[in-house]
Amino acid sequence: MNIKYDNLHHINYQNDKLYLLDQRKLPQERTIIELETAFEVAQAIKDMVVRGAPAIGITAAYGVVLAAKAAYAIDPNNWQSVIDNDMQLLAKARPTAVNLVWALERMRGGFAEIVGNPVPILLKEAQQIHDEDIAANHKMGDLGAALLPSDCRVLTHCNAGALATGGYGTALGVIRSAYTAGKLSKIYADETRPWLQGARLTAWELLQDKIAVTLLADSAAAALMQQNRIDWVIVGADRITANGDVANKIGTYSLAVLARQHGVKFMVVAPTSTIDMNLDVGNQIVIEERAMAEILTIAGQRIGASGATAWNPSFDVTPAALVDVIVTETGVVEQPNRDGLLALMS
Ligand code: MRU
Repeated sequence: MNIKYDNLHHINYQNDKLYLLDQRKLPQERTIIELETAFEVAQAIKDMVVRGAPAIGITAAYGVVLAAKAAYAIDPNNWQSVIDNDMQLLAKARPTAVNLVWALERMRGGFAEIVGNPVPILLKEAQQIHDEDIAANHKMGDLGAALLPSDCRVLTHCNAGALATGGYGTALGVIRSAYTAGKLSKIYADETRPWLQGARLTAWELLQDKIAVTLLADSAAAALMQQNRIDWVIVGADRITANGDVANKIGTYSLAVLARQHGVKFMVVAPTSTIDMNLDVGNQIVIEERAMAEILTIAGQRIGASGATAWNPSFDVTPAALVDVIVTETGVVEQPNRDGLLALMS
């Protein structure tokens, strides 16, 4: 079987420009946008042209290359200071996914040793981050798939696929690997209000690989489990704290509670770049709140009654106690807790 989604070119740096597949327009349109400055890159992350924790980290790394090019042109002897403003812009683009600051810090780590033009060296580092992410996803795909029984029926939430990463995907990487191994008998995806990443992106990606998928309204997940129609929930993560709490797309926590109630297993798939050992517990994670308009409208059409306001947290936190296993590229942690995460990260 030809699983091709580690080479979607949805994040592509060429000739001093960054090209992004505009994920807001999928699946109807495949539009590529061209970016030349770190400011434009930060704006694209904010506006969800590119989204998904590892994907925004990789994009920000390429943003640093563009920032370095501009800073070197302004002051070749002092570009490391000139770049600071752009680094901050990138860091502030979205608050919840730790991969963003992780990638920026990794890029900054090499600054001091660079002599002369920083662009080729930083571009190599950004490409390395990108390549390592794809390799990590394949590793996690195999590790996660090995945990699933045969004839397994799975539910995923949001899009933790090729589009949300460098390629192949985290949760969808496990689903791709398990499907290839002939272990899956049914794949469900939540539509994932309000951005509909499940309905638009996950379904599109899987169908590109000719993998059948059944969509459901987020509110149908409880009935799905009550009717004994799934065995595992498999999701990605935006930040995992030292005790194993998991921030992911809003609605993930409800799935974890439902899964525990119905005896369904709950798997979180994320590279180690998503693990934040600097935070002890999940309630320390900054949860992004987005515009009310995302709830009150669909595709530009007002659906909320005129005068209604909205609450729009983009993520929620699932306590470690509700997670059966965290799968990373360096190993799996079952019944995650501080000791398990410490052992993994050391
Ligand atoms: O708001 P988004 O679309 O960036 O949210 C994405 C998610 O919550 C994903 O599940 C998470 O980033 C993991 S992606 C491999």
